[in-house]
Amino acid sequence: MSKENAVNPKYPHFLHGGDYNPDQWTKFPEIIDEDMRLIPLANCNAMSVGIFAWAALEPEEGKYDFTVLDNIMDRLDKIGAKAILATPSGAKPTWMGIKYPEIRRVNEMGLREKQGVRHNHCYTSPVYREKVKNINTALAKRYKDHNALILWHISNEYSGECHCDLCQEAFRKWLFKKYDGDLDKLNYAWWTGFWAHTYTDWSQIEPPSSIGERHLLELKNDWMRFVTAQTADFLSQEVKVLKAITPDVPVTTNFMEFYSGLDYKKLAKEIDVISWDSYPRWDQPSCTELYPAKSTAFVHDMFRSYKNKPFLLMESCPGVVNHHPHAKIKAPGVSRLLSMQAVAHGSDSVLYFQWRKSRGSWEKLHGAVVDHCGHENTKVFKEVSEVGAVLKKMDDIIGTYTESEVAVFYDTENKWLYENMQGLGCKSNKAYDETAVKHYEVFWKNGINTDIINYESDLSKYKLVIMPQNYMIPENFIPKMEKYVSEGGVIVATYLLGMADENDLCYLGGFPGGKLKDLFGVWAEAFDSLYPHQDNSVIMNKKTYKAVDFCTVMHTTTAQTLAVFDKDFYKGEAALCKNEYGKGAAYYIGFRDNGDFINELYGGLIAELNINKSFAGQLENGVSAHSRHDNKYTYVFLQNYNPHKASAVSEKTYMDFFTKEQINGTITLAPYETRILREEN
Ligand code: GLA
Ligand code: ZN
Repeated sequence: MSKENAVNPKYPHFLHGGDYNPDQWTKFPEIIDEDMRLIPLANCNAMSVGIFAWAALEPEEGKYDFTVLDNIMDRLDKIGAKAILATPSGAKPTWMGIKYPEIRRVNEMGLREKQGVRHNHCYTSPVYREKVKNINTALAKRYKDHNALILWHISNEYSGECHCDLCQEAFRKWLFKKYDGDLDKLNYAWWTGFWAHTYTDWSQIEPPSSIGERHLLELKNDWMRFVTAQTADFLSQEVKVLKAITPDVPVTTNFMEFYSGLDYKKLAKEIDVISWDSYPRWDQPSCTELYPAKSTAFVHDMFRSYKNKPFLLMESCPGVVNHHPHAKIKAPGVSRLLSMQAVAHGSDSVLYFQWRKSRGSWEKLHGAVVDHCGHENTKVFKEVSEVGAVLKKMDDIIGTYTESEVAVFYDTENKWLYENMQGLGCKSNKAYDETAVKHYEVFWKNGINTDIINYESDLSKYKLVIMPQNYMIPENFIPKMEKYVSEGGVIVATYLLGMADENDLCYLGGFPGGKLKDLFGVWAEAFDSLYPHQDNSVIMNKKTYKAVDFCTVMHTTTAQTLAVFDKDFYKGEAALCKNEYGKGAAYYIGFRDNGDFINELYGGLIAELNINKSFAGQLENGVSAHSRHDNKYTYVFLQNYNPHKASAVSEKTYMDFFTKEQINGTITLAPYETRILREEN
């Protein structure tokens, strides 16, 4: 066990539990008594409390009432459980929203919201910041020495934007600083001369709006950067107060999957540990071939990679999810499979939303460990308690890390550009997320640990870096790519690579921009966005593959052509190029394929670069293998995502982590089963 890497070294155990709202049940003391019986019965040891409890904690301005929370903290402690204590800023109390209209958001049409819902405070408002500071101070002072306090849960799912006068002013200030007080610089970066939108005074700048400026794309990007910076600043203020009083209690805030309203890599810097909320949907058309399993794995890997250390699964649903279009019950075993998936990818927790179903309001039909029936005799409760029992035996794995030799590039800023751009065909075709997952999937199927990286990451530790649809490449990132490849690294990039710089200004002189042309040994003349009913063919090593959606018309300079298009006016021209560069190589894939081509290409590279697989042997389709390590051991998680039995054939002898039996040869996994194997390093 890497105890010192545990989220809170004072409690080096997997956290198992979830969002718990006793403040909703004050009229039912017997329900709280029941909770205290049921929490240990479900093998839970960590409850997230106080997330939406502000009205209970501060019923009147400046008058705090900790009766409910005191009781819960003490009772959790008594049953040996820990509290993940929230700051309540995610939902402002009604009295506050009414008394201080300025804390309510203004939308992009200039309309101030009425008091209601949640996650909608103005993050600039000094009044709101003050109120949050006060309640956070009171909470920290009150519970600083409480034995149950293990982790701070800052706010909840920060999101959204505010267009109030204060936020607009802050935006202009932020821009002033970014562009060194030079309006010309801003006008150039935003290319404002287009449609005569040149700014002649800072005060003329307004945030993007559907009734105002919405076609200056870099205004939109800078606005998103500002919203991120302002939210990160709000978060940092929350953290500051807590750190001053409880310096040893780690802090987290919960992120959402593929959420692009904020650039999480910036928020990640403000917290000690990343956590996120996972609600995979299994009912989308793209859900063939276990897409949700792979996309969830991708997000786990992304959040782990932000800090390169264990993270927390903060929310997941053991039952039906009320906001999905189909309220489908998870088949027995699926919740456990997904819980163990998080752990396999580096989570040191399995936490649920929610412990107990609320009786009324918006989320009363959202799955919970304890249903409205109120007792433990449900399939969901049973499965949760089984997961907890297993986690209790897994202390050895706490704090263990993930080693990856492969990285897939995914950056939220790139996603913004795809969301906003006019061009390169219709929006749905851009499919930035899906394409990144598709490339990632090849490594998932091969049981290869993979990091998900961005412009702030260090490339040097990887043998292979995949850059799908990397439309924007900041100018200062190009030398990093050159250095990485010249020192022996391998990059595979695709069509649409390096079209724009960090200001979303197109590179001049041919794509990919600047020195990337030398690195890849190609230049792309144009991108053909195919009609949905069209496809092209690509021939590599005499085999034919299908090309869909995007094809590149390109010219090689120093690169070798490894595959060619077989149709259309660019028949016979390069579709895949490889450029030897220094000690490494840069590949350029000029088209989108349905998966077969990258399977073949990456399969070859995995062998050639001798990329480490988590499991030594063969994996049947739908069986995954991921590993975590400490100085002594490697822990291999084999998971069967199939609703039927499936196997893995081992070439090595492993030890079964739980039974301590020696294992080799064929390992048969029951439907949705997870097996953990151990080997000495
Ligand atoms: C989010 C929120 C929770 C709850 C769940 C429901 O993740 O953080 O408060 O609303 O969704 O799925
Ligand atoms: Zn505001």
